[in-house]
Amino acid sequence: MDTTKITTTREHVLVTGAGGYIGSVLVPVLLAEGHSVIAVDRFFFGPAPAPAPGLEVVREDTRFLPRHLFKGVTRVIDLAAVSNDPTGAHYPDSTWAINHRARLRTARLAREAGVDHYMLPSSCSVYGFNPSCVDESSVPAPQTDYARANLAAERDILPLADTDFHVTVLRLATVFGLSPRMRFDLAINAMSRDGWKQQTVRLMRDGSQRRPFIHVRDVTEAFARMLAMPSSVLNKHIINVGSEALNIALRDVAMTVSQQLSRTCGTTVSTAFYGSADSRSYEVRFDRLRQLLGWLPGTSVATGVEEIVDALENGRTSDGPETIRLDWYRHIEQSAAQNTDLVMHGSLLRHPDDARPAAGQETPDTVSVLAGALR
Ligand SMILES: NC(=O)c1ccc[n+]([C@@H]2O[C@H](COP(=O)([O-])OP(=O)(O)OC[C@H]3O[C@@H](n4cnc5c(N)ncnc54)[C@H](O)[C@@H]3O)[C@@H](O)[C@H]2O)c1
Repeated sequence: MDTTKITTTREHVLVTGAGGYIGSVLVPVLLAEGHSVIAVDRFFFGPAPAPAPGLEVVREDTRFLPRHLFKGVTRVIDLAAVSNDPTGAHYPDSTWAINHRARLRTARLAREAGVDHYMLPSSCSVYGFNPSCVDESSVPAPQTDYARANLAAERDILPLADTDFHVTVLRLATVFGLSPRMRFDLAINAMSRDGWKQQTVRLMRDGSQRRPFIHVRDVTEAFARMLAMPSSVLNKHIINVGSEALNIALRDVAMTVSQQLSRTCGTTVSTAFYGSADSRSYEVRFDRLRQLLGWLPGTSVATGVEEIVDALENGRTSDGPETIRLDWYRHIEQSAAQNTDLVMHGSLLRHPDDARPAAGQETPDTVSVLAGALR
């Protein structure tokens, strides 16, 4: 990377999903770096952040963002989403409405308002499971509504990019590590919690299957580094965000959990295999991240496991129902009468207008989607 290109401009950043697992780590980092932040979220998983210099909190649904919100904004980080496969399978209509159509709408509003740079956090899950090592030029093979909706967002938002409106897609590896809005439905976090709580790590046979991982603080560092670069350098790029060193076999994650627990709590952890042999193993290359940013994430699985176990042990985090995304959305829906403070636009996660595209029309062209996307 040409480091002379790094700028120190203070940006005015609109972050959607600011109250989520990644967003709640990211926003304080952006503020500490001197950027001002508009933190947008429905705050399904906990209260909005406390007031802070440079921070504006907006409780709103990304399906209904008003135009005026984008005035003066220079960059958008569009994290708000239904954030995993099981939730996507349970709420497919809302997953398409939020992950695809709302993001397309947000990108369009950003472009109209003169925002310089729109960043779309997508997922390495768009690759599906591929026997070879994949990079950004590999043909995606999304297997789920969550992955298909993310891919559709990529495909419809990237063409909005031009010389004034810059678009970057970040395909994140699976995230791990401690966050104020903890998720225990992510593989490494779940294994750490299970090892600590039950002295057993559940492992799908035979454990040799590999996945790419990244620590949540490294995700925020990737965003922070991109904000410090001229957006034109990142324009129209799809970038895998992770590192080859963290393409890790699940049995090695289990081993790390076991070693860490034995060090921290003197506990012996066993592994319980389940299921039939899982052939869904894949590895991802991160050359483009290395080339464009001159950096690769380096926080180890052991560090993530250590901080999670330590936080559980010392009561600084807990594994309440909100830490499993699907369980929590179902819970607030079933107890809607007690959760009226979470209701917006007459609904919780599901809105009556939500719809998934008809079969075979999952990546509609930009123009027709935009025509229908602006409510
Ligand atoms: N965590 C991972 O392992 C991972 C991996 C790859 C990609 N990603 C992507 O990163 C993004 C953030 O992931 P996360 O782990 O922080 O998820 P998360 O579920 O913790 O956070 C999502 C946030 O979006 C909010 N939200 C959901 N629907 C909304 C709506 N319609 N309007 C306003 N706010 C809404 C929720 O309240 C929540 O705070 C997602 O787009 C996800 O797909 C995450």
